[in-house]
Amino acid sequence: MNAPGDAAEGLALIKPAVRAQAAYTLSAPATRRKLNQNESPWDAPPELKREVLAAAESAPWQRYPEFAPPALLAELARHYRWTAEGVLVGNGSNELIEATLAVTLEAGDVVVAPSPTFSLYRLLTTVLGGRYFPVPFGPEFTYDVDALIETAVRERARVVVLNSPNNPTGSALPAGAVERVLEETGALVVCDEAYQEFGGPTALPLLVHSSRLVVLRTFSKALGLAGLRFGLALAHPAVAREIAKGKLPYNVNVVTLAAAAAALRHQPALDARVRQLVANRGRLVARLASLPGLTVYPSAANFVLIRLHAHPAHDIFRRLLDEHGILVRDVSAAAELAQCLRISIGTEEDMDAVAGALESLLAAGSV
Ligand SMILES: Cc1ncc(COP(=O)(O)O)c(C=O)c1O
Repeated sequence: MNAPGDAAEGLALIKPAVRAQAAYTLSAPATRRKLNQNESPWDAPPELKREVLAAAESAPWQRYPEFAPPALLAELARHYRWTAEGVLVGNGSNELIEATLAVTLEAGDVVVAPSPTFSLYRLLTTVLGGRYFPVPFGPEFTYDVDALIETAVRERARVVVLNSPNNPTGSALPAGAVERVLEETGALVVCDEAYQEFGGPTALPLLVHSSRLVVLRTFSKALGLAGLRFGLALAHPAVAREIAKGKLPYNVNVVTLAAAAAALRHQPALDARVRQLVANRGRLVARLASLPGLTVYPSAANFVLIRLHAHPAHDIFRRLLDEHGILVRDVSAAAELAQCLRISIGTEEDMDAVAGALESLLAAGSV
């Protein structure tokens, strides 16, 4: 194959706003303890896998999948206590973030979100020709709901994105916040509840009151199926039908559809895992809270954010990996997250290992 030539002509046709954005990528070196992507530390239960593989084997692979089998929609509706007509399934909730923004944003329209938050919102807003307005969190990464509303009203925001618990801070929205944003702005309010099973309130009961609310859920975190890519949007049925127009057809494959149904059947076992992770989070936070030179922020999610005071975060990140085989997420490049690392919650052994490693690295003095 010939080496690629000069890229200038092709690049000249890419929107400047897109070229100015950083790509959403992640390099994850193989390591013993992978605590960098807020995944479940446990593979799916073997019976669940067997059921999915059996369903996949008996499905005709030359046929397109159903958009969403009615039986699965009915089960999802029961699980999330909403109507099946208002449930839209996607290839991960990321696809539904994109579809929601794609069907709402005209060129120049404004999206407001707290900052720091999941970086995909900014990237997709920009790719779709919208303008992104980040609103800083208050002290200790608590939501500044007044400032969010003020900004949304001032900028006539088309969309407000609220991720709760928020990635990467772990912050949960205070009670009544979503109601206020709905009442005091005219925006579509997208509540990304990717981590809600681990703590904090849910906006699901508000769906019945407002057609300007979209709630996003994923099977990647609490249900442990990140590799199979399944997420859903819950909204007023009329709005869900419009969001569906922004999605590519047939994007949830037969294996994933079978896995989603199986995960709902295995809910009690998966719920027990969530309870274990919440306990492990408490165990990690308790140990880190007693360490000098480090702040651990309150988290309602399956990760915690820490800030280092006496050691460069990047050095600690490297030494956790190189000397202890622990991969966490170095989020310290963002101004509001200077000196911060994000640690996903794993098994008890993972938590003891990361707490022990941090104890020894921080006790060793400046690196
Ligand atoms: C806030 C938030 N929303 C959505 C996602 C992506 O979820 P999915 O795997 O369903 O696309 C993530 C993944 O890390 C996330 O942190």
